[in-house]
Amino acid sequence: MTPLPSQHEPLRQAADAARANAWAPYSRFHVGAALESDEGRMFVGCNVENASYPAGTCAERVALGAAIAAGARQFVRIVITTEAADPTPPCGICRQALVEFAPMLEIFAVSPDGRTARWSLAELLPVPFTPASLAHD
Ligand code: THU
Repeated sequence: MTPLPSQHEPLRQAADAARANAWAPYSRFHVGAALESDEGRMFVGCNVENASYPAGTCAERVALGAAIAAGARQFVRIVITTEAADPTPPCGICRQALVEFAPMLEIFAVSPDGRTARWSLAELLPVPFTPASLAHD
């Protein structure tokens, strides 16, 4: 595992700050995410759980929603932080949500001791269903 490139350290710090605000009383698994747009803007999210468990949302999709609401449409990378000993990849639903806007997304996951994993979204979701899949004319 390579360390997080130093130029992405602000993303990790932003993801950690968001993680501190996670609402995860049920799983007690706190997640933070920081998404960088193609214009260099940064958007953060944390997981938001609910007493009605399926109503909960992952950190990555909270960050994506904030970004879309702010007008961003394309993204270059995301940094995800958790308290797990091993860096954790985004879940399948988040992969699908992200591929809509960022098929070339670079994904870093960082554990508390700095251990870092890196994937491309194409690697994690090799055969995506995309807007082009809907073409019917
Ligand atoms: N979670 C995320 O926020 N991102 C992921 O990619 C995986 C899972 C959250 C959902 C839930 O609140 C908790 O982690 C345990 O699954």
